Order: sequence, then C-alpha cells, then structure tokens
Amino acid sequence: MKNLMRYSTILLILVMASCGGEKGAPAADDAQPPAAEATPAASEAAPSMDLPEGVTAAMVAEGQTIFTSAGICFTCHMEGGVGGPLAPNLTDEEWLNIDGSYESIVSNIMTGVPEPKEHPGLMLPKGGTNITDEQVQAVAAYVWTLSQGD
Ligand code: HEC
Repeated sequence: MKNLMRYSTILLILVMASCGGEKGAPAADDAQPPAAEATPAASEAAPSMDLPEGVTAAMVAEGQTIFTSAGICFTCHMEGGVGGPLAPNLTDEEWLNIDGSYESIVSNIMTGVPEPKEHPGLMLPKGGTNITDEQVQAVAAYVWTLSQGD
C-alpha cells in the first residue's frame, strides 16, 4: 500500500511538471507589432522647394540634362551653372540682366543677351542652339532651381 501511494505521488508530480512545461510556453502573438504602416514613396525627384507655376519636377530633371547636352549652356556657364570667364554664375541671387523669376529666365534664354553687362561675348537666343520652346522651359526650370537657397 505504501508503495502504491509513493508511486502515484511520483506520477502526479510528473504529470504536473509536464503540464507546467506546456503552460510555460510564451504566447508569442502578443509581442508581434502590427504590420508597419506603408512607407510613403519618397519623391526624390521633387526638390524640397515650391516650384513656380507650370513647372514640374520632371521639367527640372529634363532641363538639367539639356543644360549639359542639347542646350550647350554648360560650355559657357560651366557644369552646374557656376559661371566662368564667358558667362555668369546662375546659382547665386545676383542677376545681371533679369530679376531671376522663372518667367524672366525663360525670356532671357529665348532672346539671349545681345549686349552682355560684364562678359566679352554675347549669348545667342537659346544659347545658339535649336532646342524647342519646351526644352527652353525645361532648362529654365532647372536654372531657376539653381538659385533657390540650399
Ligand atoms: C556662348 C556662351 C553662352 C552660352 C552657350 C549660353 N550662355 Fe547664357 N549667358 C552668356 C552671357 C555672355 C550672358 C550675359 C552675361 C552678362 O550680361 O555679362 C548670359 C546670361 C544668361 C542668363 C542671365 C544671367 C544674368 O545674370 O542676367 C541666363 C539665365 C542664361 N544665360 C542661361 C543660359 C542657358 C539656360 C543656356 C543654354 C540654353 C545658356 N545661357 C547658354 C553666355 C552664354
């Protein structure tokens, strides 16, 4: 009789221990964070500045290409429009012939600068190229962004 009791006690302990083990398994679900909020698509093409009316980020990007290709602007204004011996800096707030507004930049590129204020050679209409009016607007959009703070 004594032996049977001892045996059942051991059995009971074993059963309890194994149950306890299962209960101890952590409920992992609580720890899971809700699905992360959809990250807003970073609009890297859009400059952080407010663009003038009618100007899009796509125009600015296209204009940057034109500045160093079909528009040949960089040959005088240098890459990035920083200026050189043949043409003025387009990245600062100082303007020789215009007020720096987007419209004034467009019309300056359309007409060129027949009588430069501080440079030996003139700028022909459209920089002497045959880029389209749309390309002029795009390259003007790019030039406009150059002078907008940093
Ligand atoms: C042959 C050289 C040459 C090329 C090419 C040229 N420019 Fe110019 N640009 C000039 C000169 C010279 C001026 C007038 C500087 C002065 O008044 O002393 C000027 C002036 C400007 C101005 C007005 C700057 C101000 O301070 O008044 C803008 C804007 C400009 N150019 C944009 C362009 C763009 C955009 C292109 C390409 C489509 C271009 N230029 C191509 C020589 C050039």
